[in-house]
Amino acid sequence: MEKKKVSVWTSNRFWRRSAAWVTGVSAILLILLTFDSLAQMKMGTEEDIKNKVDKRVPSPVVINYTIDYLLDPYRGHEVPIIGGAVKKDGRVKSAYEQKEKFFGRDDYSEEEARALIHLGKLTIQAKNCMDCHTLLGNGAYYAPDLTKAWLDPTWNTLAPAYNGKEYAMVEFLKNPPQMAMHERKMPNLGITDEEAKGVVAYLKFMSAIDTNGFPRNFGKIKGAVDARK
Ligand code: HEC
Repeated sequence: MEKKKVSVWTSNRFWRRSAAWVTGVSAILLILLTFDSLAQMKMGTEEDIKNKVDKRVPSPVVINYTIDYLLDPYRGHEVPIIGGAVKKDGRVKSAYEQKEKFFGRDDYSEEEARALIHLGKLTIQAKNCMDCHTLLGNGAYYAPDLTKAWLDPTWNTLAPAYNGKEYAMVEFLKNPPQMAMHERKMPNLGITDEEAKGVVAYLKFMSAIDTNGFPRNFGKIKGAVDARK
């Protein structure tokens, strides 16, 4: 008897096998990507900063350093620059050299910096800042995104009057309506001096996280960060 020629596209066996392969390969890929993401998100250490090793999430001791947000032509978007910039081979990278005083000090140990940032995180959670703001893309869009709030140029203009931008931010957080920058005002949430310090440390730390250029053009869109100008 002549064997009937059956097209592969109508073969159950072919589709069953394909489904098994696609599922298997996707599962392996997802596992590999999960480990890769975990490694990318792993917080760096003080040693990394000393050895000038770039980490997406740097050690809490970044609060001892200056932080900028500059365009890296190689990556095509802004990147956080810690402790001054080195420009080489069409790239812009962190120098990890330039320190700056943060509430009068530039020698916070890893534990001290971590504790301060942790207090800020707890305050941000307790006061539900995400009801109005976004942090790293999570939250609400009633008020400005806080991911790079530390780098908002407004604080630089206010800094001299408050003896430093960290102090200006503390004053704002303790009584936002008094320093209102927009028609839409932030309410007074009863934040203490210590909590405000923690929040500012958290915001400074967060601004040093490499978010692949998000939010883009932060601080450069006229009137977006300070409507008074
Ligand atoms: C009820 C809504 C609301 C809540 C809750 C809220 N904010 Fe705000 N926040 C605002 C608004 C509106 C502005 C813009 C106010 C202005 O510019 O005068 C603002 C502005 C800010 C700014 C300045 C942003 C910049 O780019 O410089 C910071 C920092 C900030 N908030 C931090 C916080 C923190 C931290 C919390 C939680 C402890 C919080 N906010 C909770 C509404 C809110």
